Amino acid sequence: MSVFEFPQWTDRIRPWLGILAVGIPVYVTGLFLFGASPSTLNVGYAPEQPVPFSHALHAGELGMDCRYCHTTVESAAHAAVPPASVCMNCHERVQPESPKLLPVRESWATGEPVQWTRVHDLPDFVYFNHSAHVTSGVSCVDCHGRVDRMETVRQEQPLSMGWCLDCHRDPDPHIRPLDKVTDLDWAPDEGTRRDTGERLRQIHGIQPRTDCSTCHR
Ligand code: HEC
Ligand code: HEC
Ligand code: HEC
Ligand code: HEC
Ligand code: HEC
Repeated sequence: MSVFEFPQWTDRIRPWLGILAVGIPVYVTGLFLFGASPSTLNVGYAPEQPVPFSHALHAGELGMDCRYCHTTVESAAHAAVPPASVCMNCHERVQPESPKLLPVRESWATGEPVQWTRVHDLPDFVYFNHSAHVTSGVSCVDCHGRVDRMETVRQEQPLSMGWCLDCHRDPDPHIRPLDKVTDLDWAPDEGTRRDTGERLRQIHGIQPRTDCSTCHR
């Protein structure tokens, strides 16, 4: 008889304990290796797209709301990139022959999505959620910059853990009225952003969490 015995209930999980003992250090090392990879730190990354779609024209000059195309940004974790049918609402009539729009017409005909290249891409071990931010009054501009002035979307912020935490620890300057989240030009009528944000944070009971499981699930 050994002096110490595992209790009966551990019988079924005991084989797993060994795997965990090896697995956790490997997992954490992986986090560091891949977490430090440049993919999320490349501020300025602006890949060329299969269609030269201009936010400066559509969201800026034509004044289209972000949610016309990014329809799920308030309701889901992901901000969907629109299918060709959304473009064809206009481009069936506007510039119907444009060679620049050929991939959009092809996608519309075949149902195969346009192969957009992702600009922002967090590592898979990070959990992010658009709706949690947008429905708390954090604007697109705080994380994506003046997209409505961009011919080609580029990454404006590092998307690093430190960047996320800076705001989670002190969100007040980044909180605005809910009906202004897609108004990238917005500024408070009176007082500072911090005052306005602090008031709204208290009214809505907003309290971003900083424990690891918020973003690593
Ligand atoms: C007419 C439709 C349309 C409107 C309106 C629109 N977008 Fe987009 N957006 C797209 C398409 C298509 C893409 C993918 C191609 C690209 O990256 O340019 C995209 C890409 C993006 C990306 C990059 C996604 C990635 O790959 O990381 C961001 C950020 C973005 N949009 C933000 C906005 C914001 C903010 C607004 C409002 C100011 C807006 N968009 C308005 C169609 C639209
Ligand atoms: C609300 C209407 C509307 C929607 C929706 C729309 N566009 Fe446009 N788009 C326009 C207008 C207006 C122009 C400018 C046409 C001109 O310059 O004559 C334009 C121009 C363009 C051009 C330049 C065409 C050229 O040959 O110069 C491209 C490319 C384009 N849009 C892509 C898209 C894509 C991709 C989508 C869907 C994600 C989209 N548009 C959705 C109205 C729209
Ligand atoms: C708190 C910061 C933050 C805010 C606010 C925010 N985004 Fe994002 N957005 C991100 C991050 C981070 C990613 C990359 C997500 C990933 O890789 O999982 C992203 C990705 C995207 C994408 C690519 C598709 C996706 O979901 O991965 C689009 C499109 C987009 N954002 C549009 C918008 C629009 C439009 C708004 C405003 C209505 C907005 N975002 C507000 C941080 C933000
Ligand atoms: C500009 C400010 C800001 C930035 C930047 C930001 N957040 Fe947030 N985050 C918030 C606010 C405000 C909330 C809402 C908290 C609440 O509702 O109490 C929030 C909520 C969340 C939630 C929801 C938590 C839950 O309870 O479901 C997650 C997950 C999250 N953030 C992850 C991230 C990640 C990952 C990043 C970086 C890629 C990030 N955030 C960057 C302000 C920010
Ligand atoms: C508000 C969101 C958020 C919270 C809270 C958070 N992280 Fe992260 N973490 C991230 C993001 C985003 C990255 C990816 C950074 C990158 O790709 O450079 C990351 C990356 C990491 C990495 C990879 C190494 C690195 O720095 O890139 C480790 C390890 C990690 N986090 C551990 C933790 C631990 C431990 C906690 C709790 C003390 C924690 N995280 C809390 C968002 C968060």
